[in-house]
Amino acid sequence: MSDNTYHAGLTLRRLRQDRHIRELSREVRVSPDQLIQPHFVVEGLGERAPVPGLPDVLRETPDSLLRQVEKDMEAGADKLLLFGVPGEKREADFVYDFTATQIAALHKRFGNDLWIAVDVCLCSYTAHGHCGVLSREQDHVVNDASVDELARAALVYAQAGAQCVAPSDMMDGRVAAIREALDDGGCERTLLMSYSAKFNSRFYGPFREAADSAPRSALKDRASYQIDPARPKDALMSSLRDADEGADILMVKPGMPYLDILKSLSGEIALPWAVYEVSGEYAAIEALAAQGLIPARAAHLECWTSFVRAGASMIITYGARHAHQWLNP
Ligand code: PBG
Repeated sequence: MSDNTYHAGLTLRRLRQDRHIRELSREVRVSPDQLIQPHFVVEGLGERAPVPGLPDVLRETPDSLLRQVEKDMEAGADKLLLFGVPGEKREADFVYDFTATQIAALHKRFGNDLWIAVDVCLCSYTAHGHCGVLSREQDHVVNDASVDELARAALVYAQAGAQCVAPSDMMDGRVAAIREALDDGGCERTLLMSYSAKFNSRFYGPFREAADSAPRSALKDRASYQIDPARPKDALMSSLRDADEGADILMVKPGMPYLDILKSLSGEIALPWAVYEVSGEYAAIEALAAQGLIPARAAHLECWTSFVRAGASMIITYGARHAHQWLNP
């Protein structure tokens, strides 16, 4: 660069001076159509109930789920990520009917106006809260037995009408196994979104209340299957591997503490990237706002902007249902 373009006296504030020129000079934008709204539907719940830390997010009954989704669609939020929480917890031979029934009900009611992604994991299904099948000694999660279950679950959800299945368990080989199960089961058009760069984070707290999925066994955390926050190369290898195994969409999760990962991986791998603004990061903003210390809406929009800037084409956020209103006040 020669010295005649950028010079010491450059007046950068001219481009910041009013709304019009700020709007015209923006490099990235967030649109409500990039957002995906998570939902929790819980078996055996008498009444919908709040999720601690996440205002406007509820643990839904099958009936209230349909009403909430209808409301969200009226507000322009027509893409969702469903978490089914069965009443009965098991160690093996899981039954996926409850979640499948909710998918089918959503699909029947809203047809293709609604885009349904479904989380594929076992942590809401197991008595111990881990994302897979535990060994007899309860000291580790058994990889291949877990993958078999996950592939079975994914096919059931796809056949029930989900457009996308999203494995969040972090077992090795699950993307290939799920893709094969989908293709063999007549669901070759079903999308596969892999939580490929999912870190062993402390920011999942409110979610684990909502999904009834906190680990509660001798193996007390998910460090032996989720990625260590200090190992970006593991996130790269995991994402390359999942792309290779046939994932259509890759994901970084959580968002804000991992923007560096999102930026570098989205530059490296040409698939579309999702980012999950997880429950704890969303709740942190709400907690600051509740103390009157920051404005919630503007802070949420600022975070979403950072995700798009870092390379995300889609954002999973608990605020998706508010986006139209927040972005077009
Ligand atoms: C389950 C799963 C988790 C989240 C999505 N799928 C939590 C976990 O790994 O314990 C977290 C989402 C959130 O915090 O909003 N495997």
